[in-house]
Amino acid sequence: MFNRRGPRRTGGATPTIPVSGLSIYDPMHFGIDENGRQVRVRLAYKNIIAGGEPGSGKSSLVNTIVAHGALSTDCRLWLFDGKQVELDPWRPVADVFVGNDMERALYRLAQLQHELDIRYAMLRKAGRRKITRDDGLDVILFVIDELALFSATYGTKEQREDFIRILRDIVARGRAAGIITVAATQRPSADIIPTSLRDLFGYRVAFRCTTDSSSDIILSVGWAGEGYSAKTIDPLSVGVGWLLAEGGIPQRFKAAYLTDADIRAIVAHARSIRTHYPDDDGTAGVPALVTV
Ligand SMILES: Nc1ncnc2c1ncn2[C@@H]1O[C@H](COP(=O)(O)OP(=O)(O)OP(=O)(O)O)[C@@H](O)[C@H]1O
Ligand SMILES: [Mg+2]
Repeated sequence: MFNRRGPRRTGGATPTIPVSGLSIYDPMHFGIDENGRQVRVRLAYKNIIAGGEPGSGKSSLVNTIVAHGALSTDCRLWLFDGKQVELDPWRPVADVFVGNDMERALYRLAQLQHELDIRYAMLRKAGRRKITRDDGLDVILFVIDELALFSATYGTKEQREDFIRILRDIVARGRAAGIITVAATQRPSADIIPTSLRDLFGYRVAFRCTTDSSSDIILSVGWAGEGYSAKTIDPLSVGVGWLLAEGGIPQRFKAAYLTDADIRAIVAHARSIRTHYPDDDGTAGVPALVTV
């Protein structure tokens, strides 16, 4: 229906390498459970929030998710990295990379909201409720690490409020339109993740937290009282967390982990199978997603 995958720039891809890869609609490997069984997550039509104390494993999980997106030839990467170093290795395969620049973050956020509006207009016109993998429309994996820097630290109060307002809209409407939001925060508090925003994330991951209430802010109030608290995670068990999928009960898991060398190898492979690239400086121009 939406066949918008028109000609793309090919900067860097070797034409003789066949375009193949994963799909963002495929389930991805998240880690293992307590019995050593694989924990898989399907990102499509979901948003993911991960919280936990510093050093608990959030950025590592975010990197694993971005890896799946990078290897998926039907997915584009929009990366907001307040610390700039966590997601930097993915720049060569990201359509958009925003560092500690609030104005740029708001500009890109507004652009994403505009893309969302256009996708909804297309869905309405086609009498459809959501895009599917057969539509030929790339999914956008929108990743924010670290959320608190944009929602509570950088910029002016008005800019931070704008950020949360637009983000809430993108998280609320994005799923059906093929925009998946992944956010990580080391400060799980009500001002960083208002309940109204948290509830829009279908997958919630609580890594080690210092209090039951921080754990509940990520998973939702009541779980700590039921025995599912990220405060019980040993501080030395980095990468261990509770994973809550919409409608389920939290599941303890150990997140998969990619070393820097793994990431470099994945980026190199992703470059060989992807057919769209950012501008050479890695900051990307306006992504030519909309060709109608
Ligand atoms: N799943 C994992 N398995 C093994 N080691 C891990 C795992 N996750 C994280 N680590 C180790 O812990 C370190 C800190 O992890 P990470 O940077 O993901 O934490 P973080 O929660 O993002 O911290 P911060 O809040 O400071 O950004 C990593 O550099 C890595 O050495
Ligand atoms: Mg981090």
